[in-house]
Amino acid sequence: MTEIVDPKEAKEFFLNEPRKLDNPFPDLKYFRENRPVFYYEPFDQWFVFGYDDVANLFHDPRLSVDRMKGFVDQVPPEVRDDVKEIAPYLEMFLLFKDDPDHARMRKFLHAGFNLEAVHRLKDQIQGAADELLDRVQNQGHFDVCGDFAFLLPAYVLSDFLGVHKEDRDRVVQWSVDFIDFFNHIPITEDTAGRMVQSATEMIDYTKGLLAERRWEPRDDFLGTLANVEEGTITEEEIVANTMLLLLAGHVAVRNLVGNTIYLLLTHPKQYSLLKSNPDLLKNAIEETLRYEPPVTLIPRIALEDFDLHGNTIRKGQIVQLSIASANRDASHFPDPEYFDISRKPGRYLSFGFGPHGCLGAPLAKEEARISLETLFRRMPGIKLDKSRHIEWYRNAANRGPIILPLVF
Ligand code: HEM
Repeated sequence: MTEIVDPKEAKEFFLNEPRKLDNPFPDLKYFRENRPVFYYEPFDQWFVFGYDDVANLFHDPRLSVDRMKGFVDQVPPEVRDDVKEIAPYLEMFLLFKDDPDHARMRKFLHAGFNLEAVHRLKDQIQGAADELLDRVQNQGHFDVCGDFAFLLPAYVLSDFLGVHKEDRDRVVQWSVDFIDFFNHIPITEDTAGRMVQSATEMIDYTKGLLAERRWEPRDDFLGTLANVEEGTITEEEIVANTMLLLLAGHVAVRNLVGNTIYLLLTHPKQYSLLKSNPDLLKNAIEETLRYEPPVTLIPRIALEDFDLHGNTIRKGQIVQLSIASANRDASHFPDPEYFDISRKPGRYLSFGFGPHGCLGAPLAKEEARISLETLFRRMPGIKLDKSRHIEWYRNAANRGPIILPLVF
């Protein structure tokens, strides 16, 4: 039987109250403790808040990730046909594939993330961090997100994919257009149009990079995939998942870097602790991932009716897994509402869990570590610029600053 919802709870549900997005954590605690499995009628969706349930549902075969059709249905009719032309690529995203295709494709994409390929990126991450800070070093103030944390992951992805240096700004634009299409609700003619334009350009461009690598083998990401045995993963699947990397590996990294800086600057004791013990930087990043996960909510679709603690989830309904809530579940993290960079890292769920767990997690952590170490070393006196506003990127599924003005 579908749970009867107290209308007061429904009205005040955090996702329906924009002002609550600033700080949803008291609500998440309330739901975790009182309604850990919650049906929210206005959205016709289920929300799951407890750590064990979220972790278990991440690898429950009764739930599917195949949600691309839902996106196309929401596109304004004026541009729907254009989106339909690109949709076959979007449907090949690993993120939207169930087994057996998911397992087959993931095996090959994982090979592209081989340790050596990621290891080689260390110098390139360092190079990008220095290049971006060189541009602002003499200014005395800058926007650490717009000028640094936003561009760094795009430059790193360009290096990872083997994009020619003069084309890096195109990668930034493509990735912004993919993110706007998938993250802005409702989808507009503008976001859909830009996505189609960028996807068309990127498909051609990536096919060119693959052709170069077939001609002259290289052991970078695309080189590894270009030379796998024919019939194992198609060229279209490789191109599609290269697009996915721009969507998955850009804004989340910016959010992680921005959230870490913001949390440290607003928790002076923790920042002093880090200054007196720089080895705690890795831990500070882990704690930020737990406390303020860049990706807060992940949807799944029920493939069949099933029972979850007395609630009947119906086939076709969306089940939203709250990472932000699970990471503050007191049964897994003592004193969870406390930001503590000396905490022993636990098994937070910020990179997902199970078959779809993040392929780029080691890369993301390395980007955060190198960029923050470089920032704190080169600009040891950074402070929030109180004369300017912080702008946040906060919606149902993402959290992090877009503009974070600093003085130094
Ligand atoms: C702090 C940064 C990041 C966060 C918080 C993050 C988070 C996540 C999460 C929660 C998932 C699981 C999605 C699901 O279960 O539906 C995921 C999947 C994925 N991520 Fe990340 N990610 C980050 C960075 C990256 C980077 C840098 C890359 C690549 C360059 C990347 C590539 C992927 C891919 C390809 C998947 C899909 C895996 C699959 O479906 O099998 N991510 N990520």
